[in-house]
Amino acid sequence: MLYDNHGRPINYLRLAVTDRCNLRCFYCMPEEGIDYLPRKELLTYEEMERVVKLMVGLGINKVRITGGEPFLRKGMMEFLERLLQIEGLDILNITTNGTLTGRLVPKLKAMGITSVNLSLDTLDPQRFFEITRRDSFDTVMQTFHELLENDMPTKINCVVMNGRNTDDLIPMVELAKDYPVDVRFIEEMPFNGSGASDKNHAWAYLQILEHIKLKYPNIVKLEDAPSSTSFNYQIPGFKGSVGIIAAYSRLFCGTCNRIRLTPQGMLKTCLYDDGVFNLKNLIREGGDDEHLKTALLEALRNRAKDGFEAEEKRNQFGLPVSESMATIGG
Ligand code: GTP
Ligand code: 5AD
Ligand code: SF4
Repeated sequence: MLYDNHGRPINYLRLAVTDRCNLRCFYCMPEEGIDYLPRKELLTYEEMERVVKLMVGLGINKVRITGGEPFLRKGMMEFLERLLQIEGLDILNITTNGTLTGRLVPKLKAMGITSVNLSLDTLDPQRFFEITRRDSFDTVMQTFHELLENDMPTKINCVVMNGRNTDDLIPMVELAKDYPVDVRFIEEMPFNGSGASDKNHAWAYLQILEHIKLKYPNIVKLEDAPSSTSFNYQIPGFKGSVGIIAAYSRLFCGTCNRIRLTPQGMLKTCLYDDGVFNLKNLIREGGDDEHLKTALLEALRNRAKDGFEAEEKRNQFGLPVSESMATIGG
């Protein structure tokens, strides 16, 4: 088992396989997009598989594939097949925008993917277009139904944006009335490619909860799984549950079990840090498994206690976060 310097067990790797995306959600990227990494800057599938194997050997048993949009990278299904063969990797999850995922769902289910988190911020097609700057609402909803028809455990990720989709929160909550899904509302973070943020108007955890309570005062708190990012609730009679992720308030750092690998091979021990060291460079300089392991353990010995400390330490100028979430994987 891996532990960090604050005694937190680390068993969860978030692996971002590409920084490319076919949507332009304004909370994640500017309209013109971002400068994508040249292919040779990306970790290859072989390099990623090697790192995952090494980490599983050390105590990681849960991996989440993120991006950008993971299915934009060619050969993704074959890569997933290979990861699924790693002994000791118990859980392989995917976070996706759902634009390319629909027809793959039966295969994902059959091969053993544990669950899928689908990004969906509104149930209104016009608002979907305004938020994502692309006309893909119907496609994403088809994916949603494919997931359910194939009994794939599904969570919906909805970023709460002041004035943009706050009218959609109750319809989104009601998705959990009709379907057995976990609908999770996420505080917006300034990982949008420009760093611009409207802190004074950002919807924080309690405001989101109070808003839901106005319509559903009998909402009940559920017990959260250890290291859950979301505070979870049940509305009596609903098939699914409702969660709130205090990602900007950073209320769950005390039980954080996650590390991250970016598409260019940067290891992050906190979402809010700017990368603690580049694994890809070490690999390409010929580092053997012992080198990689030493570097990883060293990083875990110096882990920030929470996202505030990580953000403070992130660069010599103390600049706040501003990079696109597509370069991190969320
Ligand atoms: P589960 O395995 O279902 O618990 O997934 P998850 O919540 O870890 O992953 P997902 O990719 O669905 O992330 C949902 C939201 O939580 C995203 O907006 C992430 O950026 C945010 N999030 C995930 N992990 C962290 C974290 O360690 N810190 C912060 N601040 N936010 C996180
Ligand atoms: N703030 C909060 N959540 C974000 N995500 C992407 N960008 C942001 C942001 N700026 C979420 C997406 C996706 C998850 C991995 O991260 O909704 O579901
Ligand atoms: Fe973990 Fe950092 Fe997120 Fe806190 S902010 S939960 S320490 S990744």
